[in-house]
Amino acid sequence: MSTIAVRYCTQTGHSKQIAEAIAQRLGVQALDIAEGLKDRVDQLFICNGMYAGMLDKRLKDFLLSDAKNAQEVINVSSSATGLSTRNKLAKLAQEGGYTLSEKEFRCKGAFHFLGKGHPDQDDLKAAADFAQLVARKD
Ligand SMILES: Cc1cc2nc3c(=O)[nH]c(=O)nc-3n(C[C@H](O)[C@H](O)[C@H](O)COP(=O)(O)O)c2cc1C
Repeated sequence: MSTIAVRYCTQTGHSKQIAEAIAQRLGVQALDIAEGLKDRVDQLFICNGMYAGMLDKRLKDFLLSDAKNAQEVINVSSSATGLSTRNKLAKLAQEGGYTLSEKEFRCKGAFHFLGKGHPDQDDLKAAADFAQLVARKD
């Protein structure tokens, strides 16, 4: 039976909402990265946002310390522009010793006048559908 973890790092709550939608669909718990990832898992869905074009420092620290405990890291990001944080996670993968999946989910997340109303119910459903599709079933 494969093991799946869902973690989020959030500044304004969107990543938590998305993580909870994913976790509910997969029947696991969504936890803040502050909880760490000490046990080995097959897949880690890491829900995060983009801030001034960068990753949150707490997320970087988590990626460099705990992400290697997952056989595969799957990026789930939101940003006001809709741009993904995947290339930033990819840059840290070697140093962090983790494997980043080719598969990713991204959606808009409201910030000031950009991405208004997102993530909305459709985004949350799409995130859960994505997770269900890529979650290992073995
Ligand atoms: C301080 C701050 C800086 C942001 N900078 C960017 C940015 O450079 N590019 C972008 O597309 N979105 C930016 N955003 C929007 C966030 O990436 C978006 O709202 C995301 O959904 C936030 O996730 P969170 O609610 O989990 O923190 C920024 C948001 C905040 C709060």
